[in-house]
Amino acid sequence: MKEKMKQSFFKSLRFRIMVLLVIIGILPCLIIEKVIVNSYENRAVEWKKMNVKNQCDILGNQLMKEGYLEYQQSEVINGELSILSTVYNGRILIINRSGRIIKDTYDIDEGKYMLSEEVIQCFEGVDTSYYDESNDYIEQTVSLKDGKSKQIDGVMLVSISTGEIRDSIEILEHRGNLLMLAISILVLVLGYLLSKSLVKPFTRVSKAIEELTDGYLDEEISVLDYSETQMLSSVFNKMLKRMKVLDDSRQEFVANVSHELKTPMTSIKVLADSLVGQEEVPVELYKEFMQDIAVEIDRENKIITDLLALVKMDKKASDLNIEKVNINELMESILKRLKPIADKKKVELVLETYRPIVAEVDEVKLSLALSNLVENGIKYNVEDGWVHVTLNADHKYFYVTVADSGVGIPKDSIDKIFERFYRVDKSHSREIGGTGLGLAITRNAIAMHRGAVKVKSEEQKGTTFSVRIPLNYIA
Ligand SMILES: Nc1ncnc2c1ncn2[C@@H]1O[C@H](COP(=O)(O)OP(=O)(O)O)[C@@H](O)[C@H]1O
Ligand SMILES: [Mg+2]
Repeated sequence: MKEKMKQSFFKSLRFRIMVLLVIIGILPCLIIEKVIVNSYENRAVEWKKMNVKNQCDILGNQLMKEGYLEYQQSEVINGELSILSTVYNGRILIINRSGRIIKDTYDIDEGKYMLSEEVIQCFEGVDTSYYDESNDYIEQTVSLKDGKSKQIDGVMLVSISTGEIRDSIEILEHRGNLLMLAISILVLVLGYLLSKSLVKPFTRVSKAIEELTDGYLDEEISVLDYSETQMLSSVFNKMLKRMKVLDDSRQEFVANVSHELKTPMTSIKVLADSLVGQEEVPVELYKEFMQDIAVEIDRENKIITDLLALVKMDKKASDLNIEKVNINELMESILKRLKPIADKKKVELVLETYRPIVAEVDEVKLSLALSNLVENGIKYNVEDGWVHVTLNADHKYFYVTVADSGVGIPKDSIDKIFERFYRVDKSHSREIGGTGLGLAITRNAIAMHRGAVKVKSEEQKGTTFSVRIPLNYIA
């Protein structure tokens, strides 16, 4: 049991609660961290770009005033250029109209030509600025305009490192991660405790149920912590009640069965004993008693046969053997089989069919159900009475009614006649060979076909059973 519980932890409510808490607790923090870092980076880069641009503009103006593009002798400008490149940890290139690099603060590329896209764009009047995130630098072009003609005579190409922004971000991220770790641990611990306490009532329910299953007879469970567990408790108690009813009826059934099976046995025993106890019994008496014994054996046999039929009907609907069956023919053969009994009781059997009917049914079980009804109509009838059977159908169902002119059923018995072993008049019913199982079999067989059976009766006038069964079997 414990082992099973461990295996299914990932499917458990507790696991889900914890996952939920982790998602609500940690995900927003992660997102916030990312947003903060990103916006910091953007702002820092923008700020730096603006700063550099300003510095370069000032320097550019100064540079043009001094005619630096023609002669690069100005100590002041050269000094400022090198200060600027040192301060910003970057490199400054000055490119003249023909694309030649006339000044490189790194002194590497002087004299070479540089006509990159940015430079050309800048000559066309568009200052560009580009941030290379992965290599940590900003590249910026600033046009050098002639003071009077406003013509672009050169370009200042500045690339500066953004390493310090990266460093700050890393520090920020590191702190963020530490905070996240702390929050995660907190959430996990809280989640663990919370999920444990949230799930506790459910554990209590299953524990209560487990305790009950040992001796469930007269107790009830009640776990009132949540309305959900209250509901569970009440549903379970309802089921328990139903189980108790079932258990009672099962016990009653077993008691009834034993009693019914014992009755013929007792008679046989009495008959046999009385023969054995007497000396020199006349042959006629032997014969008479033996006949009585044979009758009792027949009766025992009938009870057992009915019981077996009933047990079969109690099983699942999957045991049905569904076929397309001609109901008219089925009914005719039932009546034919019962004709001799009817004749003996001088009861008239009439079949009235309104249309041909073919339905998906289990022929054996349905036949048993219907012949029980007709047989009852004959058995519980009066001399010169009648049993009237009708067959009809619509697009969905077929209908069978079995009406008789018999003794009828008392009002207070009508709800009980479908119960197992119930007979209105025990001694009379026994006399005519009833076991009290027939209608139970009938009702179960009809229910297996998803049908319904109803009864109307008036004492001393007669009884009518109406059966309704779907034409197409509903699985
Ligand atoms: N058509 C009927 N007319 C009068 N009573 C009936 C009729 N059908 C059934 N009953 C009553 O219902 C009881 C139960 O019927 P059933 O289960 O078939 O048992 P059984 O026929 O073996 O006695 C019968 O004992 C009888 O009292
Ligand atoms: Mg019967």
